[in-house]
Amino acid sequence: LVTDVRLRRVLDSRGNPTVEADVLTEEGGFGRAAAPSGASTGEYEAIELPAAEAIAKAREDAVPRLVGEVHAGNQREVDRALHVADGTEDFSGIGANSAVAISMAAAKAGASVTGAPLYQHLGGTFRGNNYPIPLGNVIGGGEHAADATDIQEFLAAPVGAPSVSEAIFANAAVHGEVHDILMERDEPAGKGDEGAWAPSIDDEEAFEIMDEATTTVADEVGFEIRFGLDVAAAEMYDEAEGGYVYSDRVRSTEEQVEYIADLVAEYDLKYVEDPLDEDDYEGFADLTEKVGDRTLVCGDDLFVTNTDRLGEGIQQGAANSILIKPNQIGTLSDAFDAIELAVENAYGHVVSHRSGETEDATIAHLAVATDAPFIKTGAVAGERTAKLNELIRIEDNAV
Ligand code: PGA
Ligand code: ZN
Repeated sequence: LVTDVRLRRVLDSRGNPTVEADVLTEEGGFGRAAAPSGASTGEYEAIELPAAEAIAKAREDAVPRLVGEVHAGNQREVDRALHVADGTEDFSGIGANSAVAISMAAAKAGASVTGAPLYQHLGGTFRGNNYPIPLGNVIGGGEHAADATDIQEFLAAPVGAPSVSEAIFANAAVHGEVHDILMERDEPAGKGDEGAWAPSIDDEEAFEIMDEATTTVADEVGFEIRFGLDVAAAEMYDEAEGGYVYSDRVRSTEEQVEYIADLVAEYDLKYVEDPLDEDDYEGFADLTEKVGDRTLVCGDDLFVTNTDRLGEGIQQGAANSILIKPNQIGTLSDAFDAIELAVENAYGHVVSHRSGETEDATIAHLAVATDAPFIKTGAVAGERTAKLNELIRIEDNAV
């Protein structure tokens, strides 16, 4: 039985306050987790409240429904109590940031009582043998860095790696190689919110550099490394402007579909996330039909980890994979429901960080617990390495 839920404001990687939760149980269980935070948030995400407000509301409405009332090990019971306490459709009552921190902390408390690693507590006894391929953000712009690429993320995809740790080190090597190429080209670069290089180059040059860097590192490590994108196209889409606004031009929806399909063909992209606006199921379906055999077309802002929106996408053939961000939907149970629906319909699922993160590594366990084919959690930066290093420990049976 849960005996205490403590909430506090802690720092996220952008220097903003976020919600951290501790859950304590009668049996001596303890779990701690913190909410991440997006910058290119989807319109249909659950609502994040200012951290102080989310904490105040959760203390008033949620904590009394948890303490002495629910078992930390019963995730459905915990998450139902959070929904009842919230009383809205979008967690605007207590804040999705409070909800997700408590939901994840309860899972960790439940795991600590049994002594099982979190991925096993969440996924069952036989989980822990399949590891996700990490997608590593190595060049970025969009909402994550000023004066950089239009496309938000260029992601290394080490698809041929024999182990998760080799994949992780390959992504770090691509990140380093990109830096070397930028130096050679006299393009100095700081880092964006997810630790990717954020040079003031155009997208075309970024594609050239990605191609060169992934090829070089693939030769060094001896396995296949492809790459991919998060276009975050909802941030570019402007109906009044007639479509997708790039630095040098505007693309209509048809032009956008063609442009992305051409890029997939030219660079053999493994992964394309949010290539179209978050309301454009039809555009997603067109593109998926064109490139979906070889490439993951992934819905982030399109699906927002929401089963209703994913159901609509499945019906229309929009995308063939879904990004899973627990804080988009507010609880681990809701995230599991989205994963289950995806798996039933042969949609891949990609467990993901947010641009604002903490050292919380729950998503590493969530990916292993659900046999996720991919995880997106950056390449190099402390709050990103927290997840990557946890994956290495899971693979080494050291958690
Ligand atoms: P966000 O970006 O966390 O700022 O939303 C990540 C993404 O778009 O995948
Ligand atoms: Zn995205």
